[in-house]
Amino acid sequence: MNSKSVSGIEAVVTGASGGIGSALCKQLCEQGIRVLGVSRRAPDGWSSAHYRHLSIDLRHPSASEKVAAALDSTSHASLRIVIHAAAVLHSMPFELLNEGMEDEMLRLNLRLPITLTRALLPWLKVANESHSVFISSMAGFQGSLKYSGLSVYGASKAGLVGFTEAIAAEMEGSNLYFNTLCLGAVQTEMLQRAFPGYSGGVSVDEMARFIAGFAQNGHKVMNGKALPVSIGNPR
Ligand SMILES: NC(=O)c1ccc[n+]([C@@H]2O[C@H](COP(=O)([O-])OP(=O)(O)OC[C@H]3O[C@@H](n4cnc5c(N)ncnc54)[C@H](OP(=O)(O)O)[C@@H]3O)[C@@H](O)[C@H]2O)c1
Repeated sequence: MNSKSVSGIEAVVTGASGGIGSALCKQLCEQGIRVLGVSRRAPDGWSSAHYRHLSIDLRHPSASEKVAAALDSTSHASLRIVIHAAAVLHSMPFELLNEGMEDEMLRLNLRLPITLTRALLPWLKVANESHSVFISSMAGFQGSLKYSGLSVYGASKAGLVGFTEAIAAEMEGSNLYFNTLCLGAVQTEMLQRAFPGYSGGVSVDEMARFIAGFAQNGHKVMNGKALPVSIGNPR
């Protein structure tokens, strides 16, 4: 991808090749929003003139700067939505998790949304208003029913809740808004890997529809909040 091809980007979505992220990018594009999707693989099975893809390993220490570098100056006036959906889940008893797995979850699920937020600040500050949406999990929502195997994943997702509250307070009075969605079960590969054989949860398209609407309008009624978005189990 060359930088000329990403003019006027309105939304950045990480985790663009996966279940929720891919459906989200598709739906935003269908609504005429110009999207830069970021993940190692490109989304499969759909294409749009509004979509540009950046293939990158987001675990890399300079990944956030590379995402920012992919936006050209025309995106300064247009970027208004950032959806942090990339994540990895190693579902495993706590004693069996190794440092590499823990580092990967903490880096991708928590550290990356923080550094990417910082890297995109120059764009977000000049937007008329911007909404950053962090995709967390009920595994990181205080007081919800918890499941074994998700200890460090849950910690990484709970960290997003704390970051959202703090960054929103720090930026209060600006045109920058931040919220977190703590999702329950959604029928994706990640869910199947974590809960083999489990058939509940909402469809990817249904969840993507909710997130796409929330990203465009949620900040008009809430800021610095973590919202549980869950039906059935896990909740
Ligand atoms: N599904 C659920 O039930 C559920 C419940 C609660 C919360 N969530 C959250 O919802 C979000 C989306 O989940 P999902 O179920 O759609 O997951 P998924 O299908 O496993 O997709 C994960 C996405 O993250 C990207 N990713 C993973 N490692 C990456 C890396 N090193 N560099 C760049 N991109 C990377 C993947 O792309 P590549 O592999 O192509 O890089 C993929 O696009 C996640 O934040 C997840 O924690 C999901």
